[in-house]
Amino acid sequence: MYNVHPIAPKRLPELLKRMPKAELHIHIEGSLEPELIFKLSKKNNIPIPYENVEALRSAYAFNNLQSFLDIYYAGASVLITEDDFYEMAHAYFLKAAQDHVVHAELFFDPQTHTVRGVPMQAIIHGLSRACKEAEQTLGITTCLILCFLRHLSEEDALKTLEEAMPFKNYLVGVGLDSGEVGNPPEKFSKVFAKCKALGLKLVAHAGEEGPPSYIWSALDVLGVQRIDHGVQCIKDPELINRLRLERTPLTVCPLSNLKLKVFPSLADHNIAKLLAEGLCVTINSDDPAYFGGYIYENFLQTFEALGLGAKEAYAFAHNSFEASFMTTSEKEKRYHELKVCFESFVEHDA
Ligand code: ADE
Ligand code: ZN
Repeated sequence: MYNVHPIAPKRLPELLKRMPKAELHIHIEGSLEPELIFKLSKKNNIPIPYENVEALRSAYAFNNLQSFLDIYYAGASVLITEDDFYEMAHAYFLKAAQDHVVHAELFFDPQTHTVRGVPMQAIIHGLSRACKEAEQTLGITTCLILCFLRHLSEEDALKTLEEAMPFKNYLVGVGLDSGEVGNPPEKFSKVFAKCKALGLKLVAHAGEEGPPSYIWSALDVLGVQRIDHGVQCIKDPELINRLRLERTPLTVCPLSNLKLKVFPSLADHNIAKLLAEGLCVTINSDDPAYFGGYIYENFLQTFEALGLGAKEAYAFAHNSFEASFMTTSEKEKRYHELKVCFESFVEHDA
């Protein structure tokens, strides 16, 4: 393992910004800023029940996951055409590039759109056009992960998978999101088995608000390679052991957990404990337009609240590449770039 040199606290924000990183937990619909919601609402003639951008933004005060999801799905209702999906993802990639994200794995929720009559093709073609452009113009490698909405039935998920089949080559994998409690992973065992047989990678939200048993069943029943959130594993020492031994990544989203009241403050967040326990934890933004910041802001606020330094910064960035669905050689290239970046912060005696 690379020997990380400590750096002066005043240089930490610059390091957190400049170090190359992967974003593995971003719902692209959660990057829809109020300004773009209003623009698309006018263009597509879809009314939204807020006077203006400020009124919409001030409605972003949540008590829990469900209170957020209600507004999030309302916001996503302005997306109609292929260009709308392109524009949303393009705006995200510009922000991600500023935060030195060099690899991004985007979640999208097709059922939110197909139920309103938006064709699967418009969604996937729009997003993948923005992905291709980000690779060519920003040097960000990308992939798409189709998420099934767990508050809907497994039949609906199976139908969605059928609709996505003509576009299978655009997808690296599938995930599971939306309201967790009462919708355990095992509700989706058939559709995940199908996806596995198709060679798709598997991830699932588990242990965000739900119990550790949901993390066990995501691993054992669905066979996922990564757990999204997973912070409730702290309640189960046997589960922590397993996650450590199998190096199952957790894609943690600190500002999301703060805004959805999973933790009362960032100083109470358990991410530093999970890292110290030897787990492959990463820092991500979840729904940055709703939770007050993109990935750098998640790093900065978490590091300030928990008093973390260069060693932890390196570990989180390294974990983000390790946990990604990049090839081994792509990972090696990113590990090298990470070391070069950290070397550039070492202060040599004159
Ligand atoms: N969809 C968008 N953000 C989500 C989250 N934090 N948990 C579950 N589903 C989501
Ligand atoms: Zn999420």
